[in-house]
Amino acid sequence: MEKIVNAAVVGLGVGMQHCRGAAKAEGGRLYAVCDLREDRIERALSEFPGTKTYNDYDEMLKDPEIDLVSVCVPSGLHADLAIRALRAGKHVLVEKPMDITVDRILEIEKVRRETGLKVGGIFQNRRNAIMAPMKQAIDEGRLGKIITGAFRIYWYRDEDYFRANGHWRGTWQYDGGGSLMNQGVHTVDLMQWLLGDVASIRAEMAILNHKEVETEDFTFATVKFKSGAVVLLSSTTCAKPGAGTDIQVVGTNGAIYVDGDRPILWRIAGENWKEEEKEILDAYAGNGSAAWADPTLIRGHSFMVQDMIDAIRFDRDPMVGPMEATKAVRIVNAVYESARTGKEIFFD
Ligand SMILES: NC(=O)c1ccc[n+]([C@@H]2O[C@H](COP(=O)([O-])OP(=O)(O)OC[C@H]3O[C@@H](n4cnc5c(N)ncnc54)[C@H](O)[C@@H]3O)[C@@H](O)[C@H]2O)c1
Repeated sequence: MEKIVNAAVVGLGVGMQHCRGAAKAEGGRLYAVCDLREDRIERALSEFPGTKTYNDYDEMLKDPEIDLVSVCVPSGLHADLAIRALRAGKHVLVEKPMDITVDRILEIEKVRRETGLKVGGIFQNRRNAIMAPMKQAIDEGRLGKIITGAFRIYWYRDEDYFRANGHWRGTWQYDGGGSLMNQGVHTVDLMQWLLGDVASIRAEMAILNHKEVETEDFTFATVKFKSGAVVLLSSTTCAKPGAGTDIQVVGTNGAIYVDGDRPILWRIAGENWKEEEKEILDAYAGNGSAAWADPTLIRGHSFMVQDMIDAIRFDRDPMVGPMEATKAVRIVNAVYESARTGKEIFFD
C-alpha cells in the first residue's frame, strides 16, 4: 500500500492554509501542528480534531512519523527552522519569501543537497488561472519584443496588522522589508518568471503613512531586463482601502494587462484580435481575489501543498525549489540597496 505523507505545520497564521491543503491532499494528511500560541493551537484543533499538537518545535521534529514540515513562521526565521527540519530528516515546504536574504536561501539549498530531501517554496500566484496563457503568449513571442510593463502592488494594511503577533511585520530583522518583501514578493516573482533575467535596478523607498513600520511602506523602481525591456515596479501598503495588483506587459505586437488574477486587456495584433480578447476576458472574468485589502482572503495554497506531497510521493522536484525562490528575494533586496545608496544596482 502506498505510504501516506504525514504533514506537520509550524506557525498557524497562514499556516492554517497549509493545514487545509494537507488535510484534503491526495496521498497525504495533516498529522501535527506547532505554535507558541495556545489560542492558535486550539483553533487548529477545533478545525482538525485529533491532530497532534506541539508548542516546542524541536520536540515536534523528534516525531519519527512526520515526513513533511510546512514552515509558516515570520520570514526571517524560515531558513533556521527549515534547516532544523532537514537535519531531523524531514522534507520542508517554506512560505514566501523562503527567507529574507539570498545567502540564507542558499544555506537551505546546501543542506537540501547534503540530505537529499525535498525543499519547496510557496509562490501560489504562479497558479492564478490567467498566468498560464499569459506566460505562454509571452514565451511564444506572440507579444513581439517586450518593451515595457508595470508591476504595481497598491495594497492596504493598517497599523494593527503590523503590531500583531510580537510586531515582526515591517521590521528588517523578521520581515526583511515592507510592502515589497512581504506583500509584493509574489508579484516580483511573477515579474521575473514572465520577463526573465534582470540586468539592473534603480529605486526609491519611503515610509509614507505608517507609524509601526521601520522598513518601508512604499517602493518605486525602474527594472531593466537583459532582454532590453524597462519596467516599472512599485509597491505600497498605504493605498486605503486597497487598489489592487496591476500587471502590465507591453510588446511590439501586443499587450496584456491583469488586475490581480483577472485579465482586463488582452490585445495581440492579428486578424482576430477582438474575438480573442473577448474570449479571454469572458473566460477568466470570474477570477478575482481581494488580498490587496484583506490578508485573510489569501487563496491558492492547496495546489502548492499537493504539489509538495506529490514531489515526495513520486520522487520529483517541487514546483518552486530554493534556487527559483532566490530570484524574487534578490530583486527585492536590490531595490532596497538602490534606494539606500542612490545607486543603480547591476546583476551579473
Ligand atoms: N503565501 C502567502 O500568500 C502568505 C500570506 C501570508 C503570510 N505569508 C508568509 O507566512 C509567514 C507567516 O506569516 P503570517 O501572516 O501567518 O504570520 P503570523 O504572525 O500570523 O503567524 C506566525 C505564527 O508563527 C508562530 N511562531 C513563531 N515562531 C515560532 C516558533 N519558533 N515555533 C512555533 N511557532 C512559532 C507565531 O506564534 C505565529 O502564530 C511569513 O513568512 C509570511 O510572509 C505568506
